[in-house]
Amino acid sequence: MIARFFINFSLLFSVDALSSLEMFIIEENSEYLGVSKTKLMEHAGMAIARFIRSRFKPGSVILFVCGPGNNGGDGLVAARILAGEYDVHVIHLGGAEKIRTEEARSAWKVVTNLLTTLKLHIVKDSSEISRYEDIFRNADVVVDAILGTGVRGEVRGVARKAIEYINSLAKRKVSIDIPSGLDPDTGEVKGVAVKADYTITLHAPKKGLLKNPEYVGELLVEPIGIPYESTIICGPGDVKVAYRFRDEWSRKGDNGLILVIGGSKLYSGAPALAALAALKAGVDLVVVAAPKPAADVIKTYSPDLIVRPLPGEYLTTTMVDDILELSKRFDAVLIGPGLGREPDTIRAIRTIVEKLSAKSKLVIDADALKALKDVKLRGGVVTPHAGELRIMTGLEVSTDINDRVEKTVRASKRIGAVVLLKGRYDVISDGSRYKINKTGNPGMTVGGTGDVLAGLVAAFLAWCKDPFRAACAAAFINGFAGDILKERIGFHITATGLIDCIPEAFSRILR
Ligand SMILES: NC(=O)c1ccc[n+]([C@@H]2O[C@H](COP(=O)([O-])OP(=O)(O)OC[C@H]3O[C@@H](n4cnc5c(N)ncnc54)[C@H](OP(=O)(O)O)[C@@H]3O)[C@@H](O)[C@H]2O)c1
Repeated sequence: MIARFFINFSLLFSVDALSSLEMFIIEENSEYLGVSKTKLMEHAGMAIARFIRSRFKPGSVILFVCGPGNNGGDGLVAARILAGEYDVHVIHLGGAEKIRTEEARSAWKVVTNLLTTLKLHIVKDSSEISRYEDIFRNADVVVDAILGTGVRGEVRGVARKAIEYINSLAKRKVSIDIPSGLDPDTGEVKGVAVKADYTITLHAPKKGLLKNPEYVGELLVEPIGIPYESTIICGPGDVKVAYRFRDEWSRKGDNGLILVIGGSKLYSGAPALAALAALKAGVDLVVVAAPKPAADVIKTYSPDLIVRPLPGEYLTTTMVDDILELSKRFDAVLIGPGLGREPDTIRAIRTIVEKLSAKSKLVIDADALKALKDVKLRGGVVTPHAGELRIMTGLEVSTDINDRVEKTVRASKRIGAVVLLKGRYDVISDGSRYKINKTGNPGMTVGGTGDVLAGLVAAFLAWCKDPFRAACAAAFINGFAGDILKERIGFHITATGLIDCIPEAFSRILR
């Protein structure tokens, strides 16, 4: 059913200026779709070369000043393409030892193979740059490939000196992606920045460029072959930006504390699955608050779970104050799995949710969703399937992907929370942005996989400020763990098997 993916993007999406975080996600997801960063670098280099050819005569002296990152790598590719047609010089800041990525290293290797058509000069510290003053002065154009979206903090060391030389000596200045030293998000000058005549920005304009046109000069946007779909699918980029990379000196609790409110006389498995999924994702502690009959059973499932028994057989309004007090100690709260539909439980859920949703660190799943008909929230994430969404909002969704996207965006605006609509392809929206998750398989229709997903959303929510990003990352990892399990055992998936695959799903994505 490939045709389902011909989405009418124009309905909901246009390529606006991007933040450096959004660009990072897109590049990672492009690689996941099969268009590697090496290929993107090649296309970026070609775009720069095309621009030089269009504006400068063959034989002109072109000086590329390249940093050790991928911005420098783009410059090295362009230099290699133009070598022979132009009098090409490359000043590399740092040389081979400083290059960090595979793609920039391979661009470097090719340049070092060119003996006759390109002059390579390596500058290791600021004091060495003055040796090349004449090249800066005599070049018809200096291409600035020192720093792009990877700039962090005030520009320092040899990069700073090189930018000062470019500004004071170059006749014409072309910046790749962003004038070096300009903050890609705010446009702020990080101590010093290249004052470009032209900026060739890759794929889409970066937000900072529009905020400081004085440094940008003429702005050209060049496509580099990033598939459009890498912007709207969930992928490894979404996981990497929402994941909490552990600090070596972090202490118990620094990596996420989660409260799961769930269970009833009838159900004990659902809250336990959600809690175990969050633990396997890597949070430090999960406490399950459950009515006593469920709590007694949950305790026997795993010593990893901390269980807080609530009096009675169901969640009731008498417990609300205690739960609200308890919730203050947690980074994220999940409410819903296994709570049942007793009338007083529904009243209790509505009160808890209305009070907690303002904090935006709330995940609402399963029975709690059904209690929320016509409730307007002030944040958080809801994780309905199509039937639950209909109960909550009256919106009917079909299997058509355009329809699902449109209704999810609408539902999110109406509910006042991020909606993660579960299905063969999950759709996530916060009312203005949306993404589609394609991981997962039909083996995951078994009971309990939704609870696992809810636990994962809670884990990412504990780590990441943005509930939309948390939901995208959780949807991807949940489906990816399911795909790993299907690879191993086919369509014999269980929710506990899925939980066991969560660590591998993370390690394959984060390695
Ligand atoms: N090939 C692709 O997939 C692709 C696609 C699109 C765009 N790009 C290009 O890649 C760029 C991003 O590449 P990147 O993430 O490698 O980052 P980058 O912009 O190339 O900068 C990273 C380098 O700059 C250094 N650096 C960072 N802040 C500094 C500062 N304040 N002063 C001095 N040096 C500093 C870093 O050194 P430390 O490590 O020591 O901090 C690192 O060597 C984009 O702007 C674009 O040009 C590549």
